[in-house]
Amino acid sequence: MTALVLLGFVSLASFFVDSSARELKMIQVMFRHGDRAPTTAVKEIYPLDPYANETWYPEGWGGLTNVGKRRAYELGLFLRSRYGDWLGNEYLNQTSQFRSSNVDRVIMSAQLLAAGLYPPHKIQRWDPMLNWQPIPVHLISDSKNILYSLKFTCPKYEAMRNELENTDEHLVRRAENFTDFFQFLSRHVGTKVGQQEANEIYEQLYAEMGEHVKLPEWTEEIFPNGKLRDVAGYDYVIQSYNKSMIQLNGGSYVQNAILPGVSAALIVTRVFSGQWIREWLENVDNYLNGSSLSGNQIGYFYGGHEYNLASILAALGVFKPHVPYYSSAVIFELSKIDDEHFVKVLYRNRGNLMKIHLPDCQSFHCPLDTFRELYSDVILDDPYTYC
Ligand SMILES: *[C@@H]1O[C@H](CO)[C@@H](O)[C@H](O)[C@H]1NC(C)=O
Ligand SMILES: *[C@@H]1O[C@H](CO)[C@@H](O)[C@H](O)[C@H]1NC(C)=O
Ligand SMILES: *[C@@H]1O[C@H](CO)[C@@H](O)[C@H](O)[C@H]1NC(C)=O
Ligand SMILES: *[C@@H]1O[C@H](CO)[C@@H](O)[C@H](O)[C@H]1NC(C)=O
Ligand SMILES: *[C@@H]1O[C@H](CO)[C@@H](O)[C@H](O)[C@H]1NC(C)=O
Repeated sequence: MTALVLLGFVSLASFFVDSSARELKMIQVMFRHGDRAPTTAVKEIYPLDPYANETWYPEGWGGLTNVGKRRAYELGLFLRSRYGDWLGNEYLNQTSQFRSSNVDRVIMSAQLLAAGLYPPHKIQRWDPMLNWQPIPVHLISDSKNILYSLKFTCPKYEAMRNELENTDEHLVRRAENFTDFFQFLSRHVGTKVGQQEANEIYEQLYAEMGEHVKLPEWTEEIFPNGKLRDVAGYDYVIQSYNKSMIQLNGGSYVQNAILPGVSAALIVTRVFSGQWIREWLENVDNYLNGSSLSGNQIGYFYGGHEYNLASILAALGVFKPHVPYYSSAVIFELSKIDDEHFVKVLYRNRGNLMKIHLPDCQSFHCPLDTFRELYSDVILDDPYTYC
């Protein structure tokens, strides 16, 4: 009896301390778009695809599917349930900003997230039949497109990756282990498959599975679980293999390098993960010093791609091999406890919310100054010149 009372007291006390002392100040969310149709980019490395001539009507190649729309919207609902009281019921442009890479499925996912997060509340209800209000989604300005690297390419990054795969002992041995597997894949897809192509093939099969078409028999042993998944998930480890890769993890690599003779078979864009950490910290500084427009900005929502999330997790030193799922999200919370600011990072994948323990921080709440110090070396001052 006494113990019970005591327990109750302790948990109540800790609840009280936690909720009264910690004040949430800002959230920044990086999320992947929802489920999509297969993309044309992979057509050339999968010439034997039985669905090469599909139209994927009505969403079209690379388009957001209805399942994907629901999943993006659901992320918005989740964010409303977790942060709604704090963000407020009305959408205010000086409070929340929605940004996206310049790809239709990402822009649409950002709109859906916004719809779930900010259904029109009383004074913003403009049509009694429609539980929706327009919310702007901004494309990243040209000066910042390095974040998504849609136009930016970094030859140095490509060269580094090639060098790594040819010289790093572990990677070389790993590739040897997979020789038979890559040959097996090559035979069935119709081109020469290596590590990077295997990742693309995995994503393509995943998208086809989402379209409910029957996949060829050869995939049964290795997909959706098994070897192909493991190889696909490991690609993000290689993309951010060491500090230089993390700083540079951007630009585009062209399949040409690996598939001589196939012209511009595939251009995949990558993000500068270090640049994302920089962007977050800039937003934090703008908030802390109350500068100009961004002074009240407490919610940033960035739509992107699976490699954006993977590279951010890798830059934070917490990535474990996997493909970040549709509508997964990395959430960065800035809070104030007493007079100090703290950073907490959360990762939501397949609906599971996980607190991220940053390797060199003692608790889930990492002092902002420590955070800055820990990650200062992943941020390049001038990546454009460096590349
Ligand atoms: C796709 O169309 C091309 C051109 O008509 C044809 O050669 C090819 O066999 C078709 N592929 C499939 C998988 O149906
Ligand atoms: C909010 O909207 C106003 C009016 O359109 C615009 O001038 C301002 O730049 C917007 N604020 C932000 C933070 O985008
Ligand atoms: C990362 O690997 C690349 C390729 O081998 C190499 O050029 C670079 O110096 C490495 N960076 C670090 C910090 O080890
Ligand atoms: C290669 O395969 C062997 C046997 O399965 C395994 O023990 C080893 O860890 C693998 N090496 C790499 C680098 O993956
Ligand atoms: C506020 O922070 C921004 C971003 O780091 C910085 O550029 C600016 O100089 C700061 N302003 C003041 C007044 O400290």
